[in-house]
Amino acid sequence: MKQFTSVKDVPDVKALLKLTQEVKAAPYEHQATGKNKTLGLLFFNPSLRTRLSTQRAAMNLGMNVMVMNLNSDGWAIEMDDGTIMDQGSQEHIREAAAVISQYCEIIGIRTFPSLTNREKDYKEEVLKKFIRHAQVPVVSLESATLHPLQSLADLLTIEEQKKVERPKLVLSWAPHPKALPQAVANSFVEWMKAAEADLVISNPPGFDLAPELTKGVPIIHDQKKAFTGADFIYTKNWSSFSNYGKVDTGLSSWMIDAEKMSWTNQGKFMHCLPVRRNVVVADEVIDSAASLVLEQANNRTYAAQAVLLKMLQNER
Ligand code: CP
Repeated sequence: MKQFTSVKDVPDVKALLKLTQEVKAAPYEHQATGKNKTLGLLFFNPSLRTRLSTQRAAMNLGMNVMVMNLNSDGWAIEMDDGTIMDQGSQEHIREAAAVISQYCEIIGIRTFPSLTNREKDYKEEVLKKFIRHAQVPVVSLESATLHPLQSLADLLTIEEQKKVERPKLVLSWAPHPKALPQAVANSFVEWMKAAEADLVISNPPGFDLAPELTKGVPIIHDQKKAFTGADFIYTKNWSSFSNYGKVDTGLSSWMIDAEKMSWTNQGKFMHCLPVRRNVVVADEVIDSAASLVLEQANNRTYAAQAVLLKMLQNER
């Protein structure tokens, strides 16, 4: 595997899911595979789970790990070619990616969207330029539009928790005071379309995700109708795609509470975290037995470990 940026980089999702189960069952089995190999984790944006679980995954594989917060600790990086660099940026992506490649066998990178320029964000310029100029495999630690390690962990969680072969999954939009990326939601759609599941998206009018991603997935603007019979409620806020990056603070009724969970088929509650309690989800739900948020966070390690192992073994 040369890059892990999307479900499209995975030729066999079922096989990768099986590998996550295997590494979870025996996390230290491949300690020799990563010996004397280094993972470099580069963050343009904050992280708790991705940073720690990916470090843990690499350590389980016997790797060394270096972490750098690029915005606060590095030189300001110029992304465009042909620029006269007499302003703020001190280092070009061409040198930065090539130099980091000399220190690491695998690079992970987190780069959030601007949420001001949809065309630019959806082109994934930062991630793609990094991949172009890196000389080693690159793992997305969440890009402008996708968060594949989160989705692989979510797929593992659903596989572990499902009670029927083909569960009904509802991706439900949630209120939030600030503009958030569409990445987790986009990725969830992309990965669950490739899984054995019936996916439904529920969001208020004006918050439909990118049509090319949601093609073939029912979008139901009535939350109660969407939740009926659901086995899993996956909740996430995203800012508007059509009115790009905009939020609507008048939609607090979309928060997940116990009454809404009662509409489901004794459904489980999922969220990638971090989550704003009593804005996105009521305490009574996130603290209930139906909540899988800690299981999801735990599975981030095994999702990352399976991907790193594939890269170390140079396998697709
Ligand atoms: N879910 C997730 O990616 O969490 P962090 O932003 O803390 O890494």
